Amino acid sequence: MSRETGRLTVLHISDVHATDGTLLYGTVDGFARLRAVSDYVRHAAITPEAVVITGDLAQRGHAAVYPALAEALMRLEDEIGVPVLTTLGNHDDPDAARILPGHAAGHHRVVLLDGLRIVLLDSASGELGPAQLAWLAAVISEPHGDGTIVALHHPPLGSPLPTLAKAGLRDAASLLGVIAGTDVRAVLCGHFHHPLTATLRGMPVFVGPSLAYHQVMDAGPDTVSGHDKAMFSLVHLLPQGVTATSVGLESPAPLFTSSLPS
Ligand SMILES: [Fe+2]
Repeated sequence: MSRETGRLTVLHISDVHATDGTLLYGTVDGFARLRAVSDYVRHAAITPEAVVITGDLAQRGHAAVYPALAEALMRLEDEIGVPVLTTLGNHDDPDAARILPGHAAGHHRVVLLDGLRIVLLDSASGELGPAQLAWLAAVISEPHGDGTIVALHHPPLGSPLPTLAKAGLRDAASLLGVIAGTDVRAVLCGHFHHPLTATLRGMPVFVGPSLAYHQVMDAGPDTVSGHDKAMFSLVHLLPQGVTATSVGLESPAPLFTSSLPS
């Protein structure tokens, strides 16, 4: 485990947009991409503490996909050998999603993994609301071991893309107020389908890229354009801070491969 090196790893996936029966936009197979992440972890010999998937697990209107998605998440957990923890996004069906591992009793919860505390929030409606924020405040009122990761779908800020500038969490200011001054070390989100790193009130916020499609940044002032590019993120908690690295699943031809310089 990377805990022995003082470096904790969270493999952060977002926006799978799994579909039932058809491929998303005729191309994207969310299940195949989850399997590709598992293959990557094995090939790269990554040893994360957990996998966190920040919502839009299924494509809107594909409620029948949740049983298969539950199986795929359990398989991913078996293959990687660590907990696979999920939050819901605006595309997800809150009723159908109760079949997913960890969602039977509700869509927000806290998970303790040795010294690491992971709080999974439900922003499927676009906001957290006073009751969930009060629950969060109580959960993180005391520090825990190596610290806390907060995961939710909607970022607590807007995107630089004009069309997504107002697509962030509606009660972002309240969330940032609750986690300020606590042991929360990073906030993990998705929703934008492009990676974004921010520091808000001193809090690192990592918007992970999408496993389904990538939102290009030059789509114009009033359009969005999804491109076929599957990515996830490796979040590292270090003694001196936190990092997030976007990882693409495509394998372009290498320009060169050589030994490390001495
Ligand atoms: Fe999405």
